[in-house]
Amino acid sequence: MPHATIATQEMEITPFVHEPGKKANFGATVTGADLNSLDESSFQALRQAVYEHGVVVVKAQHDLIPAKQSDLIKRFDPEARAQHGFGAGKGSKLVGFLGVRVFPFFRETAFASLLVSRTDLLFVGQDMPFHAIPDSGGVNLVGHGYQGDDHYGLKNLTVRAIPQSKLHATPLSPEELASGQTRFNSFHFDGAIYGAPPSRVTSMRCVKAPVGPELTVRWDDGSGRTMNCKAGGTAFLSGAQLYSLLSDDEKKLADHSFWEPAPHPFAWMGTRRLRSSGMGLAPGGQTIPLHELPEWTPDKVYKFPMVWVNLVTGEKALQIFPDIIRKLYLRDSPTASERVVEDLEEIRSWVNDIYDRIATPEYIIIPEAEEGDVIIWNNWAVQHSAIEYPDSYGTRSSTAASSAEPSKADCSQCTNSTLLRAHCPLGLSLQHKPLLCCSSLVGAWIDRHLKCCSAD
Ligand SMILES: [Fe+2]
Repeated sequence: MPHATIATQEMEITPFVHEPGKKANFGATVTGADLNSLDESSFQALRQAVYEHGVVVVKAQHDLIPAKQSDLIKRFDPEARAQHGFGAGKGSKLVGFLGVRVFPFFRETAFASLLVSRTDLLFVGQDMPFHAIPDSGGVNLVGHGYQGDDHYGLKNLTVRAIPQSKLHATPLSPEELASGQTRFNSFHFDGAIYGAPPSRVTSMRCVKAPVGPELTVRWDDGSGRTMNCKAGGTAFLSGAQLYSLLSDDEKKLADHSFWEPAPHPFAWMGTRRLRSSGMGLAPGGQTIPLHELPEWTPDKVYKFPMVWVNLVTGEKALQIFPDIIRKLYLRDSPTASERVVEDLEEIRSWVNDIYDRIATPEYIIIPEAEEGDVIIWNNWAVQHSAIEYPDSYGTRSSTAASSAEPSKADCSQCTNSTLLRAHCPLGLSLQHKPLLCCSSLVGAWIDRHLKCCSAD
């Protein structure tokens, strides 16, 4: 019998029981919740479950109102700016295909200039716009195919999900895809990244699932690895498990190192494409020179930690966004000299070597989500990927909500070392915190840390 936790009178939280041979150690099912009217104690139980299990599937939310889905995300991060989601009318021609899967709230005017200047490098084929559901607080339609006469106010809409053919260096053929062979599109975490840290939590409700035979996800990297799954699923891997797989020396390095994305990183990627596993970049491709990017300012190019600390459990997770890194800042202690790596090939090899340890069938899960189910995940601790399916399987409709501009770790509460460790994304001790957080992260976060540290 699976271990079950009674969280409240209504809710039951049951950790996933993984199949034999599986090494993944995360995920849980939540039953008995009503996300339309979640009382405070039930919300706290749900929040605890998300942070403890990384990914939760909240069953049977058939009647969830999109605006309530947005409200739920705001409860996870009350300080997040009120603007959520993509914003209607913005699409891949404005942010690059890889930007479609995250939360761009960039100004259209800036990207319009890029569109004019570099269409040869960036954009192939039709535009893929985002579709914000009206009056939802920024919930977006994520799907594929005809969405019906009226999908929460979106009328007669047909959408096309981003195909792996636009993302991978060596994509599957249309014939292979039609036969039920597929790939992980791209492992990532949600966030605009330029000018904003990743969203703390993302939710996705399955409104309509495609129907068809099981798919075979192929790695096509010479390993012969495959996974089977239902169509319409989302794959996850755990950054916490990845951190646990590092050697002690690697943990020291990760604890004290940083990665820096390019400005407007999803446009900057240019013609660089992913490996066939959907994890990390393949060789080749061309980035966009910084001076050809839309207007940008250095203060919005954040220097992110490699290791993020779970806000509830304190567990560390390795969270790096392989596709968009322009610099690595490597050091293995707070006082060690820093090695700055700017060679993109060296960065690519270094990051891929780490992620190859966990981007395997043993560690990846594809939770089954039936129509009405809501998947909620800790976006600071897991990475996820869509999985393309054949058009013949029919329409997929999901509603997704995340924070377009989430708040950073809250250090204003750091009145003692315990709280400080709990809230610092690096989980640093009081002694080390000023050296790392205050000197390395940018913007308001620094101000708050400095204030906090001096108060301490
Ligand atoms: Fe995503």
